[in-house]
Amino acid sequence: MSRMPFIAGNWKMNKTVAEAEAFMEACAGRSFDGVDVAVCVPFTSLWAAKRAAGSVAVYAQTMHDAPSGAYTGEVSAAMLDAIGVDGVVLGHSERRELFGETDKALQRKVPAALEAGLVPILCVGETEAERENGDMERKLRHQVQEGLHSVPAERLHEVVIAYEPIWAIGTGKVATPEQAQEAGELVRALVGDRSKEAEQRVRVLYGGSMKPNNAAELLALPDCDGGLIGGASLKPDDFLAIVDAATS
Ligand code: 13P
Repeated sequence: MSRMPFIAGNWKMNKTVAEAEAFMEACAGRSFDGVDVAVCVPFTSLWAAKRAAGSVAVYAQTMHDAPSGAYTGEVSAAMLDAIGVDGVVLGHSERRELFGETDKALQRKVPAALEAGLVPILCVGETEAERENGDMERKLRHQVQEGLHSVPAERLHEVVIAYEPIWAIGTGKVATPEQAQEAGELVRALVGDRSKEAEQRVRVLYGGSMKPNNAAELLALPDCDGGLIGGASLKPDDFLAIVDAATS
């Protein structure tokens, strides 16, 4: 089964409206054949980024699971959909660690995103200590099973799963191809426990210090269908070099 590669830049808490527009202008005129391309944008720049976007999809970086209500500071899936946002990152390790996002909340958020027409990118990954203690598999199993728990089997393939080892995020310490493949294969097999069809169709991304100089090797792995890129997605040249690596 051939899966469309997917390169997504996660800007995290970077880029004002003007900076987001400048990034989109630098990507304008590029059409992307054989690869899906997205950037995950702070709330304040979503509207402007979407208007300037061309062939680049625009994703949010988090959302609340409820459609509306007394949740000060939060944004719903319906609100994102109403301004044309295409998808949303859910369960990034920074949100889990720094802002208390739980697997229970993700059980509601992933189906809520799908129901609103957004593509969810569910992030999973182990800490360095968990890897050293032989706990990687247990952690990934738990996060994948919990995050996908309330997604019906026939919609599982629409979820994108990003394997992001926490020790590789923002550290310059990239997973080896063997480590990335082992984890990607495991994540795919865990989806397969729910649906054999989804196992073949679901896209599994790698994230963690992916750069223009290491992307090709990772993207060539059988169970790496793309990348979730932090630091290297802030400059259009670096980001587009990784996009090109996905199609060459
Ligand atoms: P870096 O590419 O900066 O390591 O960040 C990865 C990441 O967290 C993407 O979501």
